[in-house]
Amino acid sequence: MRLLVAGGAGFIGSNFIRYILSNYSEVEVINFDKLTYAGNLENLTDIEHDPRYSFIKGDICDPKAVEKAVSRLGAKGLIVNFAAETHVDRSIVSAGSFIQTDVFGTMVLLEAVRKHKIARYLHISTDEVYGSVERGSFNERSGLEPNSPYAASKAGGDLIVRSYCKTYGVPAVITRSSNNYGPYQYPEKLIPLFITNLLEKKKVPLYGDGKNVRDWLYVEDNCSAIDLVLREGEIGEVYNIGGGNERQNLEITRIILETLDLDPKKWIEPVKDRPGHDRRYSVDCGKIKKLGWRPAKSFEDGLKETISWYRENRSWWKNTKKKQSEFKMSWLEARH
Ligand code: NAD
Ligand code: TYD
Repeated sequence: MRLLVAGGAGFIGSNFIRYILSNYSEVEVINFDKLTYAGNLENLTDIEHDPRYSFIKGDICDPKAVEKAVSRLGAKGLIVNFAAETHVDRSIVSAGSFIQTDVFGTMVLLEAVRKHKIARYLHISTDEVYGSVERGSFNERSGLEPNSPYAASKAGGDLIVRSYCKTYGVPAVITRSSNNYGPYQYPEKLIPLFITNLLEKKKVPLYGDGKNVRDWLYVEDNCSAIDLVLREGEIGEVYNIGGGNERQNLEITRIILETLDLDPKKWIEPVKDRPGHDRRYSVDCGKIKKLGWRPAKSFEDGLKETISWYRENRSWWKNTKKKQSEFKMSWLEARH
C-alpha cells in the first residue's frame, strides 16, 4: 500500500513518517514537501535510505506536480496532508502564503484525490479553528470562529475538504489536534523556542500576562491518533485530538527553567501581547476515545524528554535558530 505524506519534512509530518515505517512493514511512504523555511530533510536522516521511503520536492499549490505524485499511488493509495504554513506570528505579519497553501493547496490536493480515486484523504487541521473558549471544551459540532489569519486559513481548508466530501463524495476525514510538542519541532513555537533560547543563555519572551492556556499533546500520541483515524475514522467526519494537559504558558516556562536549573526571575522577559491572542484552547476528545485512542505520554515525562532531546541535538537546531532569530527580533521590535 502506498501513502503520500504532504508536508512530511516538517515537525509532525516527519514524526508521522517515522511512526508509520516503524509500525507497518508493508507501507511505502512518499514524502511530498516544498521545503519551506520549516521543512528540513535532516528530520528524516535516520530513515532516508529505507527502501520503503522516497522524497519528492514539490508544492501542493502546483497542480502538475501534485498530479504526478498522486498518480504514483494507485487506487488503494492514501494521502495525509500536513503541508501548511503554521506559525500564528508569521500569519500576523503576512497572511498571503497561509491562504495560498492552507486553502488553495488543499483544493489542489482534493482535485487529485478525485481524479485518481484515492481510497482516503486525511486532512490535518487544528483546534485553533474553533477559536478561544473561557470555560468548557469544543466538540466536533462546535462552530468555527478562528481569530488569527493562520487559524482562519486552516478553517478555510477544513471547509473546502467538507465541500469536496459532500459535493463529489471525496473520501476525506479531518483531525483537529491541540498544540503538539516533541523532537524536531521548529524553534519558533513556544516550547522549542524557550528551550533553545535558554540553552543559549538568552531570555524567553513571554507574551502578555503568560496566562494563556494551551492543551499540550506529545507528537507521537498525535501520530498514533492520526494512524487510527486513517484506518478506522468514518468518512466525512472530524476527530478532535487533545493531550488532556492544559497548562498556562507561565507554568510551562517555569517547568523548563526549573529543569534547566535557572532562576525564573532572571530569564523571563515579559513582552507586549500578540494581537488577537486566543486565551484558551480546549477540545472534547470523546469521539476519538470511542475509537479506542488514549494519549500514552504524561506531560511531565514528555517535556523532560523533549528538553533532553534539544540538549543532545544542538547541531539540528543551531543553524535554523540563527535564521529564526532574525524573524523573532524584528517581530519583537515591531511590538515595542
Ligand atoms: P511545520 O511548519 O513544522 O511543517 C510544515 C511542513 O509543510 C514543512 O515541511 C513545509 O516545508 C511543508 N510545506 C509548507 N507549505 C508547503 C507547500 N505549499 N507544499 C508542500 N509542502 C509545504 O508544521 P507542523 O507543526 O508539523 O504542522 C503540521 C500540520 O499540523 C499543519 O497542517 C498544522 O496546521 C497542523 N497542526 C500543528 C500543530 C502543532 O502544534 N504543531 C497543532 C495542530 C495542528
Ligand atoms: P505557539 O507555540 O506559537 O502556538 P499557538 O499560538 O499556535 O498556540 O504559542 C503557544 C503559546 O505561547 C501562545 O499562547 C503564545 C505563547 N508564546 C509566547 O508567550 N512567546 C513566544 O515567543 C511564542 C512563540 C509563543
